[in-house]
Amino acid sequence: MRGIILAGGSGTRLHPSTLSVSKQLLPVYDKPMVYYPLSTLMLAGVREVLIISNPEHLDAYRALLGEGSVWGMRFAYVSQSSPRGLADAFILGEDFIDNEPVALMLGDNILYGSGLVEKLRSAAEIKRGAVIFAYLVKDPERFGIVELDHEQKPVSLEEKPSQPKSNYAVPGVYFYDAKVVEYAKSLKPSKRGEIEITDLNRIYLAQKELEVKVLGRGVAWLDAGTPEALLQAANFIQAVQDRQGFKISCPEEIAYRMKFIDRQQLAHIKDECKNPDYKQYLDDLIVETTIE
Ligand code: G1P
Repeated sequence: MRGIILAGGSGTRLHPSTLSVSKQLLPVYDKPMVYYPLSTLMLAGVREVLIISNPEHLDAYRALLGEGSVWGMRFAYVSQSSPRGLADAFILGEDFIDNEPVALMLGDNILYGSGLVEKLRSAAEIKRGAVIFAYLVKDPERFGIVELDHEQKPVSLEEKPSQPKSNYAVPGVYFYDAKVVEYAKSLKPSKRGEIEITDLNRIYLAQKELEVKVLGRGVAWLDAGTPEALLQAANFIQAVQDRQGFKISCPEEIAYRMKFIDRQQLAHIKDECKNPDYKQYLDDLIVETTIE
């Protein structure tokens, strides 16, 4: 399975912080925002990831992530010159996707919690159709919404409805078969002038090929699109990390635990690391797993 991270947009609600910096490069506590969705894809087992961002920001992503081999990954980059909608990711990514199944994750979505990884991994195994998630929220008019029947099967999908049929929002992580590219090309822009991911999911629903997995209360789904949300996300990460002593979304650790890299490669990353705390964390990981 291939992965795409959409890290574009103008981040207007975070101006002036995002006037010259891409929103998804801003820090969420101790690491850049893009590390969180990237870690989610890695935990799902995805090792080839396309980063899509504005032309003026793409070099900053290249400088941060490189071509990926240090983490046992492969990263590719494509620029999006105007925000044409989330579904545009599949048109821009057509060559990268190369007729394989693909996962899309929005660069400002943070997912963390119990049972999540198993759900992501099973979603990543699809060969046919699409898998999306549903998560109860108190402000459904802000999101894509899925209505579910008594067996938790999808009935309808709406993008930011003024009168939502349910409180189940669709988080920004989606898994598709290779047909997604053709479906994306067939979409007409919505009233806000974008090709909507919700319309794409509606095609799969109409074909009876849309599976919805409900994420329970044990999962935290955060976004970081406003100063308040960014600060809340940072506080949440800090509180959990500080209590447990484990980092959330540390790509080096995930690459190692997922066996994308071996101990020697992790030791090399640690040696190169110039942040003493981060370095100590990686060193502890090496020591702990050597004893195991
Ligand atoms: C987008 C999608 C929406 C989804 C949300 C998740 O909204 O259009 O369906 O629920 O991401 O973050 P936007 O970020 O464009 O407001």
